[in-house]
Amino acid sequence: MSEQLGTLEELPEDYRNDMASAGVAPLWPMMRNVLPHGAPKPVTRPGHWTYDSLRPLLLRAGELTPVEKAERRVLVLSDPGRGTGAMQATSSIYLGMQLLLPGETAPAHRHTPSAARIIVEGEGGFTVVDGEKLPMENGDLVLTPGGDWHDHGHEGSEPVVWLDALDLPLFVYLEGSYAEEAPLQAQRNRPDASEVEYRAAGLAPSRRLDSTVRRYPMMRYPWARTEAALREMARWGDDGIAEVDYINPETGQDVLPTMGFTAMMLEAGQSDAPPLRSTSAAFHVIKGSGKTVVNGEEISWGPKDTFTAPVFADITHHADSEAFLVRIHDRPLQEKLGYYEERAK
Ligand SMILES: [Fe+2]
Repeated sequence: MSEQLGTLEELPEDYRNDMASAGVAPLWPMMRNVLPHGAPKPVTRPGHWTYDSLRPLLLRAGELTPVEKAERRVLVLSDPGRGTGAMQATSSIYLGMQLLLPGETAPAHRHTPSAARIIVEGEGGFTVVDGEKLPMENGDLVLTPGGDWHDHGHEGSEPVVWLDALDLPLFVYLEGSYAEEAPLQAQRNRPDASEVEYRAAGLAPSRRLDSTVRRYPMMRYPWARTEAALREMARWGDDGIAEVDYINPETGQDVLPTMGFTAMMLEAGQSDAPPLRSTSAAFHVIKGSGKTVVNGEEISWGPKDTFTAPVFADITHHADSEAFLVRIHDRPLQEKLGYYEERAK
């Protein structure tokens, strides 16, 4: 295997011109760019967005731009490796911080990419997905799967903020991203499925042969239950940190086709050094503070901060105080493609 392949400059100019005229290019000068040896060479760089820096900018957006002029009043968290304005935080994950003010509505639409929200601040916000009204409380994970109608409303008295995570970069890459709009949805007059059909882990409605099950039966994962589960795991678990994956209660599979969500708890003073994973990741801090070293770069995080790591990143977390984080990743997509990988450090 040759370390150094031939370059474009080594080729005669007339040959290069003839190739350009014919609409072709030689592979060998570019091959290492697309097939580097041993591991990918990500463009993505670790990012860190403190909530202290985002919050005033969001509130100012609330003064400057009425929701009617924005539809979704969002500040996009751009990957530092791609620069401000990049519509992605990692290779596969789009992140945006969204503000909804009391009384506002974000009109109904649906789109090919899937989305999930983690609620950051405020009470009284809600999302309606296919007619189901989902309350948005701090730390809740709320799904809006691709193709499902969704709109947002706000019945509270203070600003509501949430973090949007979408598989938008993938759909843009596929040239498959588009949206449709519609009037606000009629809401079913009943609590969401997490409060009715899927009230407890391990229980699902009994089915008859002709029963139909929604593809996404549970679209709100209340934070209080996640935290309670993590606390018990931390209390009774063996080595390592307490970690739980969000799953579809009917199938046991990931909640969305391409994006996965994993909540973790670190006790005060606890560290965690996960294996190198082939997935990129975005971490959102529900509460607590600490430090994470990503490829040698130290990120000091506090409550409601968001930070990212590229694929195969060398990551070490350390909690200064008891901390809860949600990791957003693309493991479901990579497993479907058959190449998810973990490597020991
Ligand atoms: Fe949307």
